[in-house]
Amino acid sequence: MLTHFTPLDHLLLNCQHFWRFEPFHESRSRQHRFADTPLATWLDTLSASDVSTLKHDVSRVYLQLQQYIPELTDIEPMVALEGSSATPLDLDSHLTTGIPGRKLEQITSMGSQVLLAHSGIEWLEWCAGKGFLGRILAHHSGQTVTSFEWQQALCEHGQAEAHKQNLPVTFVQGDAFSCDHQHVFNKKQHAVALHACGDLHVSLMKHAMDYQLAALSIAPCCYHLIQGEQYQPLSRLAKQSRLTLSKSELRIPLQETVTGGERVERHRYQEMSYRLGLDELLREELGLNEYQPIPSVKKSQLQLGFIEFCKWASERKGLKLPECDFLRYQKIGEERFVRMEKLSLVQMAFHRPLEMWLILDKSLYLQEHGYQVHLTEFCEKKITPRNILIHASNS
Ligand SMILES: C[S@@+](CC[C@H](N)C(=O)[O-])C[C@H]1O[C@@H](n2cnc3c(N)ncnc32)[C@H](O)[C@@H]1O
Repeated sequence: MLTHFTPLDHLLLNCQHFWRFEPFHESRSRQHRFADTPLATWLDTLSASDVSTLKHDVSRVYLQLQQYIPELTDIEPMVALEGSSATPLDLDSHLTTGIPGRKLEQITSMGSQVLLAHSGIEWLEWCAGKGFLGRILAHHSGQTVTSFEWQQALCEHGQAEAHKQNLPVTFVQGDAFSCDHQHVFNKKQHAVALHACGDLHVSLMKHAMDYQLAALSIAPCCYHLIQGEQYQPLSRLAKQSRLTLSKSELRIPLQETVTGGERVERHRYQEMSYRLGLDELLREELGLNEYQPIPSVKKSQLQLGFIEFCKWASERKGLKLPECDFLRYQKIGEERFVRMEKLSLVQMAFHRPLEMWLILDKSLYLQEHGYQVHLTEFCEKKITPRNILIHASNS
C-alpha cells in the first residue's frame, strides 16, 4: 500500500480542479467550474434518482467519471484495503453496558483485530472517552490498560464502570498536547486510539516513536481538527510533496457519510435547499457578498417552512429580513441543491484518495521510524466511514 503514496500524490495534484472546491458555494452559478465541458453535459443528464444511486456507489462514480477524468482509471486498487480477517468479538452483555449500538460494532470489530495483532504486555487507550474499547481489551487479554482522556467526567464514569466489572483499567486525566508523558508512555505498551481526532492521533504517534512503544493501532478521524491552519505532513515523502491542505480542505474526506435512509435524505434536502435559498436571498436583497454561516437548526423549525426558516436565521444573525418573493428564493435554493449534489459527485471520487493520502503519510512516518505497518478496513463503511485501521508494530 505504501508504494501507492506517490501515484496518489500525483493524481491529487493533477486533479485539483475536480476536488479543491466547495460544492455549496460552487452551486451558485450555472457557469460553475465544469460548465461547457463534456463533464457538465453528463451531469446535466442525471436525474435526482441517478444522483442518489451514484452517491451510494463510489465504484460506479469512478467508472462514469473515467471518461472525463482519465486519471481516475486506476484509482480503485490505489484506495482499496483488505477487510478484517478477525471475527468480531462476541461479548457478554455485562461488558457492553452503556455502549451505544454503532460504537459497539466498531469496538467489537476493532477489538478483535488489535487482539489478534497484539504485541506488548499492557495497553494504552489514547483519548479513551468512557474507555469502552479499553475495558474490552482488559477483559480479553487480562492485561492492564491505561485509559488516557481529557474530560474528567468521562474518566470518572469509565473508572467506575471498570471497577464494577473488576477490570485492570486505570484512567489518567490529561491533555494530549501537554501530558506528563513519562508517566503515561512506556515501551511495553500497545497503544490503541479509536477515532482520536486530527492532531490527537498525531500526538500519540510522536510520543509513541519517542518511547518506542511495542505497537500502535489507530483509527483516525476528523482530520481537520488541527491546531495550525494547514496540514503538517509527517513523512519524508509527504513533506516533499507540493500538495497542501488547508483546515477546510481536510474536511473533504469526511463528506463521505453513512446512508441515513429516505427520511434522513428528505430532511437533508429540506435543510440544504433552505440554506442555499437564504444564501441567495441575503446576497440579492441585502447585498451581502459573503456567505453568512447559519447555526444548526432543529427539525421542528424546518417543518415551519422556508419563510419561517429565513426569519429564524436572520434573527440569529441580527439581520433585518426585507419583504421579498420568498417563493422565488426557495425555488433557487432547490435548483442550487440539485446542482450542488451533482458537483459533489465529482468531488466524491476524491474523498477516499484524499483520506488515503493522509493515512499513507502517517503510515510512512511510522515506517520511517522502524515500524512494520499494516492497513485494513476494520469494519464496513456503513458502521463508520472512518473505518481505516493503521496497525504498526515495532519489530
Ligand atoms: C471522538 S472521541 C473518541 C472516544 C473513544 N475513543 C471512542 O471511540 O469512543 C475523542 C475523545 O478525545 C478526547 N479529547 C479531546 N481532546 C483531548 C485532549 N487534548 N487530550 C486528551 N483527550 C482529548 C475527547 O474528550 C473524546 O473523549
